[in-house]
Amino acid sequence: MLDIVILAAGQGTRMHSSLPKVLHPIGGKPMLAHVLDAARQLPDARALVVVGHGADQVRERFAGEAIEFVQQQEQLGTGHAVQQALPLLREGARVLILYGDVPLIRAETLKRLVATVSEQQMALLTVTLPDPGGYGRIVRNSRGEVDAIVEDRDASAEQRLINEINTGVMAVTRAQLQRWLPRLERGNSQGEYYLTDTVAMARGEGVAVTAVQPDGVEEVLGVNNRLQQAEQERHFQYMQARRLMAAGVTLLDPRRFDCRGEIIAGRDVVIDINCVFEGRVVLGDGVQVGPNCLLKDCSIGAHSRIKANSIIEEAELAENCDIGPFARLRPGTELAEGARIGNFVEIKKAVIGAGSKVNHLSYIGDSELGKDVNIGAGTITCNYDGVNKHHTSIGDNCFVGSNTALVAPVTLGAGSTVGAGSVITRDVPDDELAVARGKQRHFPDWQRPVKNQPGK
Ligand code: UD1
Ligand code: CA
Repeated sequence: MLDIVILAAGQGTRMHSSLPKVLHPIGGKPMLAHVLDAARQLPDARALVVVGHGADQVRERFAGEAIEFVQQQEQLGTGHAVQQALPLLREGARVLILYGDVPLIRAETLKRLVATVSEQQMALLTVTLPDPGGYGRIVRNSRGEVDAIVEDRDASAEQRLINEINTGVMAVTRAQLQRWLPRLERGNSQGEYYLTDTVAMARGEGVAVTAVQPDGVEEVLGVNNRLQQAEQERHFQYMQARRLMAAGVTLLDPRRFDCRGEIIAGRDVVIDINCVFEGRVVLGDGVQVGPNCLLKDCSIGAHSRIKANSIIEEAELAENCDIGPFARLRPGTELAEGARIGNFVEIKKAVIGAGSKVNHLSYIGDSELGKDVNIGAGTITCNYDGVNKHHTSIGDNCFVGSNTALVAPVTLGAGSTVGAGSVITRDVPDDELAVARGKQRHFPDWQRPVKNQPGK
């Protein structure tokens, strides 16, 4: 039985933001959500979040999730924060204390930490830093045992030379907290109830203090300002990039990769630099994504190629499609096998049939295209009359000449052809040619005007 107390009441002054610090994102997700994800991976655990500054916003963001919130009215220190949760802790539970602003903590590390805890033993997560300034220092005795934590501002010059620091992550039992928290005092440089003072209390009772180390330092780094947020973001993205590469995806540069959601990739997927993935993105076998693309909540069929600078959002692409460069597929786009969408083409709420091509400078919206349709450059579906949206239907094998306006609602029959420059306002029957433009005229006697000569 494990109760996890996540401290998230602090203001985050150095973010200079109206958003509570723990709601600031890493990889598109609030920092607190990352901590909760790690917490949920521990067996038989329950999460309590201590909130204070911006409590309403935090509660609202996590409404409906299996979390209990505890209000800390005044931020009187980390010991005081845990004390607010004390009445809610379960009899006989082990207690793990985490920070809402340390987003990349890993469940594996927490499992190792919690495993060492008993009524005779508490546990701290510590790291050794070349520059330990600002952190609580781990004070060990001559036998190497942890005796106490001293906060940076309360430490002697000698103690400040200690490189082993307190990450803030701690595991204890409820019974221990019940004995120790009421005895905390505020007689320190910050006038706060320090959770860290419990370590000396443990030693006073003969309770051993184990120090456990994480695999990497990044895992325990807190976010206090925008720079640290950006640094943790890069680290998070690099970890995701490594996981994808380990699963067989080629990333041309794992340092220039951003996923703010989830990528489900098949075999031999290649992703070029500076792409952003949001929501849930499915990439079939052999999919190639060129540089500078944005893919959000979409599914790309096997062996499709997304060329540079394309944007795809809420779209479904079948196999062997060719997209871009500079294409924009908006919500409701469905492409059948082998469809081709070229440069400066926008597609919205449209089904494009197998093998059909919209290769240059077009807008296709609220439309359904059959198979093997060819849409000439600059074709526009005029789907909006200023009030309502209307549908355009284009049959199999239709050929639409360049610079055509299709004024919806309108249907082009299968096998029909539209002459370039037409404004089509009426349905075109199957297999017929429609031309709707001014007729070309010739003026054999016409002469170009000549420039007036001044003074003549
Ligand atoms: C704390 C530790 C220090 C450790 C450091 C690691 C104490 C006394 N010190 O110092 O040993 O090296 O973290 O980063 O514990 N919080 C509340 N309510 C409060 C005070 C804090 O919820 O009243 C939350 C904050 O939102 C934050 C966390 O607790 O998430 C840590 O608080 P912070 O003020 O940053 O602690 P430090 O002084 O950095
Ligand atoms: Ca801090």
